[in-house]
Amino acid sequence: MRVLVYPGSFDPVTNGHMDIIERASKICDKLIVAVLVNHSKTAAFTMEERIMMLKKAIGDRKNIEVHSFSGLLVDFMKSVNAKTIIKGLRAVSDFEYEMQMALLNRNLDNEIDTLFMMTSINNCFLSSSVVRELARIGAGIEDYVPHSIAPFIYEKFKKAGAE
Ligand code: COA
Repeated sequence: MRVLVYPGSFDPVTNGHMDIIERASKICDKLIVAVLVNHSKTAAFTMEERIMMLKKAIGDRKNIEVHSFSGLLVDFMKSVNAKTIIKGLRAVSDFEYEMQMALLNRNLDNEIDTLFMMTSINNCFLSSSVVRELARIGAGIEDYVPHSIAPFIYEKFKKAGAE
């Protein structure tokens, strides 16, 4: 069984991530979306919120699971019996960092490979921080995140702004 792991912070999931999730799920038997419990970056959304948004956006697609992990990605891979990481590449600027991560992960476990999928052209400029910035100032995010989660994102920033 070919299992792919798509890791990230998903703070929040965007249409760019969904594009990779949908296309990656077609080239494997099971896709595991792995949400990092990130200690170095302070997340805008809690782990529960990030997982809830991913699950809502993914819906009932049968071969996709959402997990959380902390610590090393390679250790998580071992725990779910997976050997292949999938990542999206948006632009040349992503390449250097992604190459470093791919080589580091392979150095930590030489059975692990990383596959890269080119992000669709209309998502090249998109990132979670762009979405957070737009939502914070109350600008439209409907074109950039799955429709089912846009109201939740607005609400979260409205509440944060009121505090
Ligand atoms: N479309 C749109 N945006 C995308 C995207 C896509 N296809 N792919 C990534 N992005 C954006 C994200 O939205 C995020 O944007 P932001 O920084 O503006 O918020 C940015 O790219 C970075 O993505 P992120 O989800 O934070 O992932 P990452 O590439 O930084 O890597 C892990 C996260 C989980 C893969 C990595 O940190 C990891 O493996 N950590 C575990 C510890 C470990 O094993 N480290 C390696 C050895 S030390």
